[in-house]
Amino acid sequence: MKELEINLTHTSYRIIIEDGLFDHIGDYIKQIYKNNKVFIVTDDNVAKLYLKKVTTVLEKDFTVESVVIPHGEASKCLTEYSHICEELLKKDIRRNHLLLALGGGVIGDLTGFVASTLYRGIPYIGIPTSLLSQMDSSIGGKTGIDFFGRKNILGAFKQPSMVLIDPKVLNTLEPSEYISGMGELIKHGAIGNKKLFDLLDTRPGVDEEIIKESLSVKKKVVEIDEFDTGERMKLNFGHTFGHAIELKYGYKHGVAVGIGMRMALTMGVDLGVTDPLAKDTINRILDKYGFPQVEYDYKEYLADVVYDKKNIAGTINFIFITKLGEAVIYPIREDDLKEKENECNN
Ligand code: GLY
Repeated sequence: MKELEINLTHTSYRIIIEDGLFDHIGDYIKQIYKNNKVFIVTDDNVAKLYLKKVTTVLEKDFTVESVVIPHGEASKCLTEYSHICEELLKKDIRRNHLLLALGGGVIGDLTGFVASTLYRGIPYIGIPTSLLSQMDSSIGGKTGIDFFGRKNILGAFKQPSMVLIDPKVLNTLEPSEYISGMGELIKHGAIGNKKLFDLLDTRPGVDEEIIKESLSVKKKVVEIDEFDTGERMKLNFGHTFGHAIELKYGYKHGVAVGIGMRMALTMGVDLGVTDPLAKDTINRILDKYGFPQVEYDYKEYLADVVYDKKNIAGTINFIFITKLGEAVIYPIREDDLKEKENECNN
């Protein structure tokens, strides 16, 4: 078992990482929740794999209700949000009851958003079942839904009361889902934890310690900048180009982030910001963990990134690696970017 604690100004919570945690999940929940009823929100795919098991274990200590929604990003919408609230109210949820978000990023974001609004806020625990959500969205309290054609445009910062990670669930992931989660995991090493690279180099796959080392980077960043106004931007390493190629080629998110990291490394080296040795090491680890060995010319994507949400008043905040385990926020003015783009078109 490995454990981390996130300490914020108004709250703190534990992240437990334990192989086989699902076999006695109620023990952890009982430590922080004294009521006798819990409400699971999950999707149809995750329900097939884990709902019966988790429910049976929890029923030793709690009355368990559940709401199952269709899987996929399309469920992160107002209709599904209101459907979940209706179902919970029909099942007589009260403001001192607990929600359990059992699933990947969509379930975490949606359930967290319900938890932030129902009765003006009720507690929830994250139980992320994909490597991507274990590595990213389950930690740090960003919740929300898509609306008006824009991702996460309605949302709230709502920290969970606890995050429970069972690495055993990774055994049921499709290889492409696994690689996608590795994108965020490797990103954490690149921006904040050199030791993680030694573990990734020498161990055969993801284990409790690797997950803990990766999340320790997110912990540090979120503790400094809970509301995403500065330091937390470093978590966007690989995302600026990643979003552009995710949209263009349809790669899974973390896979696009991996390729986006390759592009940002090349741009960082060209600008003299990134140590070429760091670029080689990160690219080698991406190769080892099965990322496509492709890299698109970053100059061809500079126009696309101008429209990215990180474009604040004519400035793009790029994230570059300086040396392995260290990142820098590097603002570039839109006009200066156009010059670089022209260099490519000439
Ligand atoms: N996914 C980036 C963040 O939590 O800020």
